[in-house]
Amino acid sequence: MMSIGKASTAYADLPHIVAARERIENLWAAGTDYSKDIVDDARSNNRMLHLDLDLTGECKLNCFYCDRTPDRYNSVPNRVELTTAERLDLIEQARNLGATTVEFPGAGEPMIDVGFWDIIAGVHGHGMTPVIFTSGYHLDRSAADRLFQLGATVFIKHNSSDTHIQDKMVGLAGYAEKANAGLHYLLEKGFNQSIPTRVAVDMVVTPQFNESKDFEEVVELHRWCRINNVHNYIVTLIPEGRADRAAMILERERSNNMLEAVRKVDEQEFGLTYKPSRPMSGGYRCRQVNVGLFVNLFGEVYDCNGLGRFLGHVRCDSLETIWNSKFARHVRTPVQDGFCLLRERVWDSVQSSGMERKLHLYRRFEGRHGADEVVERGLHAMHQGEETPTVVPSAGSV
Ligand SMILES: C[S@@+](CC[C@H](N)C(=O)[O-])C[C@H]1O[C@@H](n2cnc3c(N)ncnc32)[C@H](O)[C@@H]1O
Ligand code: SF4
Repeated sequence: MMSIGKASTAYADLPHIVAARERIENLWAAGTDYSKDIVDDARSNNRMLHLDLDLTGECKLNCFYCDRTPDRYNSVPNRVELTTAERLDLIEQARNLGATTVEFPGAGEPMIDVGFWDIIAGVHGHGMTPVIFTSGYHLDRSAADRLFQLGATVFIKHNSSDTHIQDKMVGLAGYAEKANAGLHYLLEKGFNQSIPTRVAVDMVVTPQFNESKDFEEVVELHRWCRINNVHNYIVTLIPEGRADRAAMILERERSNNMLEAVRKVDEQEFGLTYKPSRPMSGGYRCRQVNVGLFVNLFGEVYDCNGLGRFLGHVRCDSLETIWNSKFARHVRTPVQDGFCLLRERVWDSVQSSGMERKLHLYRRFEGRHGADEVVERGLHAMHQGEETPTVVPSAGSV
């Protein structure tokens, strides 16, 4: 990664920074830049904008913080993974519901899914934006070219500029150099030449590795992102999977301090003003729960790939039926605007885990309003074949 010093006020005149003073979402990655008015309009027209879709559970890395729950690994006994054809069909269904983005948040490393290129081409062919989260381990120059032609936006992992720390965090020697080369290919190709940008770095901040008293590394990466028109997805850990322990996420106060350190840089060096929304730094606000659905490896549907409230199963019902079910409407009624229930409940010391957590709201809803047949059918389908392992594969000690 390019090294930089303290920014001068000249950076406040960069075109993407000027555009962000009009609309902060101009600094978010293309395909995820849902502003409040876009979300409000979609809500009033019951339009779905965003599909999150898991691809393969395979991954060559072994990140000590990986948030995947057991249902996001391959080969869960008696659960049948979606095929590429089924995924392509879901993409078309999402398009018919109004979707403009299909995001691939995992489950493992999306780029090594056998259907990866057909699926990205399918999204592009429907005029939607493919958004890919990748470790960057398999991102060579020709893949970067191909992704560029297919209109993709890429979130690439970058936890530390110290290659030793980066390798340690993912449990694989030599990873950091490959991922840094991957980021270089994206910039060389021009993924950061549009507004909004088509490239983001994903940095998870953990007390174990990359947190320091004044968050120097976070601030430095943030500044580099701003100067280079790279979306800064700098966040505290999602307490799920291997990270489902309070000790692995920054305390609430530390998280607030981190957001404040970033906000000051934005205000003083880039002339950007906003109210930060924990847990996202830099003024980013997740609004996906109001406008999207997440489908996991086996076709189980949730509101988001983090917390995940179970909504149904695509092998029993169409995406449209699930989107319009009474429980799904109930889940997306409160305006999210950046609020991350999953992290907040851990900071509030609410105890629950696994599937119990994913069904908690439904059980309360059921008690008050009666069962939702779409959720019930989905649960039946999931349990029919189920023998969900209760243990997440361990990353070993860190
Ligand atoms: C599950 S990964 C899948 C994509 C790819 N294998 C990767 O790691 O980039 C998707 C994104 O979630 C991030 N992630 C993984 N575990 C996390 C956690 N506990 N909290 C926050 N983000 C996490 C990863 O860094 C990555 O950017
Ligand atoms: S977070 Fe790490 S271990 Fe988990 S899927 Fe991504 S690269 Fe693989």
